Amino acid sequence: MLVARPIFPEVIARLREHLDVITHDSEQALSATELQARLQGCDGVFVAASEPINAELLAACPQLKAVCSMAVGYNNIDVPACTARGVLVSNAPDVLTETTADFGFALMMATARRIAESERFLRRGEWTHWSFDLMAGADVHAATLGVLGMGRIGQAIARRGALGFGMPVIYHNRSRLPEADEQAVKARWVDKATLLREADHLVIVVPYSPASHHMIGEAELALMKPGATLTNIARGGVVDDAALARALAERRIAAAGLDVFEGEPKVLPALLDLPNVVLTPHIASASIPTRMAMCNLAADNLIAALTGGKPPTALNP
Ligand code: DGY
Repeated sequence: MLVARPIFPEVIARLREHLDVITHDSEQALSATELQARLQGCDGVFVAASEPINAELLAACPQLKAVCSMAVGYNNIDVPACTARGVLVSNAPDVLTETTADFGFALMMATARRIAESERFLRRGEWTHWSFDLMAGADVHAATLGVLGMGRIGQAIARRGALGFGMPVIYHNRSRLPEADEQAVKARWVDKATLLREADHLVIVVPYSPASHHMIGEAELALMKPGATLTNIARGGVVDDAALARALAERRIAAAGLDVFEGEPKVLPALLDLPNVVLTPHIASASIPTRMAMCNLAADNLIAALTGGKPPTALNP
């Protein structure tokens, strides 16, 4: 089997106790063609959120039996095509929920309180005097938190807002949560337009799929309050980055915090030039214990799938 990107040596050692392992030791991700070439003769592959596993790759790698991802999002993997070919697919849910919610909340707070902008200002030597409105931003406590996508991470963010910061929480999701779950995180379901109109701080946590592509574009941004912030920790394609950059430049919304981008690791130059956006390199789940847990869960899935066990978090129906 192939570990398609560098991971913790301890996890490679664990895999080697059970499986024949080859590794890809460069931080430079394998291209689709390189991945196909490296997978010749492999029965399994350890991937993360960006290796494309599609019907073409499956056709070129007939020995492949298991595709196990250390990420929770799996829009890079064609699960129906894998299922049709009898290839096991797994992701890594749950182990990253709280860490990702911590980061989403931190990014939202940094965005609302202009922390990155203030830091850049200070490092540039521009701080010459205290002033009553220097870097004055929006409050977080008691402001209305809007959560788009109310899965595990969305609920963990809602809980932080409602119980920790006294925020009224509204959310939009295709399906409403059971009442007991809504009460646990003190969140109220609203339609998407109401969410956009009423949220002071909108946090986006929906999985990427063709249905969620550009779910937030020009028309949706136009519904938001001029003082609102938008934080995206889901996937780049959910937000139309070009439309967002225009809305930020024209101050139609106050600020944005982005951990994910369309076409990452490239970032739209228009975003890089704006003061009112906090940019981070897709690190919402990147605490050391959580990344270790994600790697170990993918390893558990691979070992089980390739040694006749039951993979703990298989995605195939
Ligand atoms: C995930 O697990 O989906 C995160 O975005 C990390 O890739």
